[in-house]
Amino acid sequence: MPIYHKLGEIPPKRHTQFRKPDGELYHEQVFGTIGFDGMSSILYHNYPPTMVKEIKKPVDVTPNVAVGNNITARLLKGFDVEPKDDFLAAREPILTNSDVTLHLAAPKKSMTNYFYKNSEADELLFIHKGTGTLRTMFGNIEFEYGDYLLIPRGVIYQIEFNSEDNRLLITESNVPIYTPKRYRNWFGQLQEHSPYCERDYKLPENLETHDEKGEFMMKIKKEGMLHTLHYASHPFDVVGWDGYNYPYGFSIHNFEPITGRVHQPPPVHQTFETSAFVVCSFCPRMYDYHPKAIPAPYNHSNIDSDEVLYYVDGDFMSRKHVEEGFISLHPAGIPHGPHPGAYEGSIGKKSTNELAVMVDTFKPLKVTENALKIDDGKYYKSWLKD
Ligand SMILES: [Fe+2]
Repeated sequence: MPIYHKLGEIPPKRHTQFRKPDGELYHEQVFGTIGFDGMSSILYHNYPPTMVKEIKKPVDVTPNVAVGNNITARLLKGFDVEPKDDFLAAREPILTNSDVTLHLAAPKKSMTNYFYKNSEADELLFIHKGTGTLRTMFGNIEFEYGDYLLIPRGVIYQIEFNSEDNRLLITESNVPIYTPKRYRNWFGQLQEHSPYCERDYKLPENLETHDEKGEFMMKIKKEGMLHTLHYASHPFDVVGWDGYNYPYGFSIHNFEPITGRVHQPPPVHQTFETSAFVVCSFCPRMYDYHPKAIPAPYNHSNIDSDEVLYYVDGDFMSRKHVEEGFISLHPAGIPHGPHPGAYEGSIGKKSTNELAVMVDTFKPLKVTENALKIDDGKYYKSWLKD
């Protein structure tokens, strides 16, 4: 997160004495990435963040792969994923490779009796349905329909929902998720051509500072296992922090589409960047305005990437029989394009109200057992003429 932010109380100089009203020292924690080379923050805790009391037996949460070598285009009915009470139990891995796992989740209940940390993957939550509060050691972020919540690895959080009707797409990334470098200048500031800017971010606010000792359960994901540790102090005991490494939100509705006289390629929709995949936002926009423009996309060979499109809302111009919450997977190795009739049928249309999130991975995705349960099974034949 390349803008500086701070909340609460911090000492004027880092790594110097910072004392509580009773004279005891606060406990400083440097929270950095890529050794000491990446973005970092410095937090000040009431108690050391190290006080482990007990470690329980871990649970294996590795995705169950059903199709390891996939060349089949697929259509997954995302809203067929069953709602479950618990946030972690509700997360169903759908597509996975060694860099990234995509999950669908319909959690009903807020996380109240434990805290959660993904220790080795950034998590990008896309809120398709639901409102609530992401509570973290860095402060809280209110969320609603259309929000991306980017939670860097290592951030301890709880998620609170205002109702039981929630639908999330979760991108769990073993490589860091950044804003695209080409949108930023050499200082890190988002430039004029970027489809969004710093004002659009939802930064953490309302830092919660607990001063409690006792028994606090934390579930920690590491190497495909979910560990349960009990800590002796409340995980949200930070009195202040500053830096660049912290969770933030961004609404897809604040993404300003880039349009042109002829069809613009997917990179104009890019929202996030990693070394292993990109995330793009397809938002309501004016269509191409060349007098002979064809608004529907051309057939294309995604030679280097598997394309995953998650349909959020609106009509999907180039696809038949697609509903909200559906996911299309267009695997690398075979071309894809508009469905029969959609190419010609798009001519003359002026605008679209489609809303979708795309995740294109550079390594092929494996299809899980969960995905096969919601696979329509016939999508790969959908380009045959009726
Ligand atoms: Fe495509």
